[in-house]
Amino acid sequence: MITKEYSKDLTGKNTFRMQVNCRTFIEYDSVADLFELDFEEMLKPVKHIGGGSNLLFTQDFKGTILHSKVDFIEKLPHDHVSVGAGVIFDDFCAWAAQEGLWGPENLSYIPGEVGAAAVQNIGAYGVEVKDIIKTVYAYDIEEEEFVRFDVSECGYGYRESMFKHAKDRYIITHVVFALSREPKPKLDYSKALASLKDDPQLTPGKVRDTVIAIRKEKLPEVSQVGSAGSFFKNPVVSQEVYEAVVKAAAGVEVPHYDAGEGMVKIPAAWLIEQCGWKGRRSGNAGVWEKQPLVLVNASGRALPEEIIALENKIRASVKQKFGIILDCEVEHL
Ligand code: EPU
Repeated sequence: MITKEYSKDLTGKNTFRMQVNCRTFIEYDSVADLFELDFEEMLKPVKHIGGGSNLLFTQDFKGTILHSKVDFIEKLPHDHVSVGAGVIFDDFCAWAAQEGLWGPENLSYIPGEVGAAAVQNIGAYGVEVKDIIKTVYAYDIEEEEFVRFDVSECGYGYRESMFKHAKDRYIITHVVFALSREPKPKLDYSKALASLKDDPQLTPGKVRDTVIAIRKEKLPEVSQVGSAGSFFKNPVVSQEVYEAVVKAAAGVEVPHYDAGEGMVKIPAAWLIEQCGWKGRRSGNAGVWEKQPLVLVNASGRALPEEIIALENKIRASVKQKFGIILDCEVEHL
């Protein structure tokens, strides 16, 4: 079924809780509905959203917002699972843990939906969603046909995919994940996870519970404080730039990770904290006190301009102190 609404308030459709409208809002609940939609006659621009958990609406949206409510979870042979794009990603994680299937447990409690997870290649605690994706199914708006992509064809990288650059063309309908009954715990990312290593009865459910506890401790609950998770990406820089950061840090140890090919990943949270932003407020916008990579709608009444002003101030001070220009993780609309 397809539903259409006009002048729709999007406050409940974006986790930053920006009070904006869109001209047209279209929701559909079956893959076949995509054949019925006339993309040419839709008010432009057209934007397909998921849970709205990685978006910053910077103003009223003058076109059409599309949203999938395709929400099946279907078991296939060999512990493969087909999941509709509109399924809440954490509902899929909970389902897998309950079935005793390994794969998405480290990605538990990330807000958002399955289709958007496959577009963004969401990641946490040493796992990216590409690691468990087998095939992505999509509707090709240009050719008016359904297509499938093997994971190797999706151009996945750190918070990157070819879908990010082909949003006007492909709408993800469902994703097939390759899960496993064999224990495959990934516990190296944090101390709390590493402490599970000695548990001979470890289940995906126990890993999931630990991940949820870590996230609840560090990150704001989107139901209580508006945010879109990590606002910036962790910069990946050359050895030369890293050494300049070490110099600028003047004796403070710089956390860093090997990013391959001689490149170094530096946590943006650390750069932002070093610039004194952790826990600070700027009007109705703020920097989360336990994880400064997360900008928040501190009062619940923040205007897009206030978030953008804070973003610009943070970017300017990190550039001034460390010479690094932070890239946004959150998509601006
Ligand atoms: N750090 C600080 N100060 C802080 C917090 C962190 O200096 O207040 C430094 C520490 O060195 C810490 C490092 O940042 O070791 C990494 O912190 P954390 O483990 O919290 O992860 P992150 O790199 O900041 C990424 C993802 C998160 C994901 C976590 C956990 C990105 C942009 N963000 O954050 O994803 O939950 O790892 O794996 O890659 C999201 O994308 O919305 C998101 C929340």
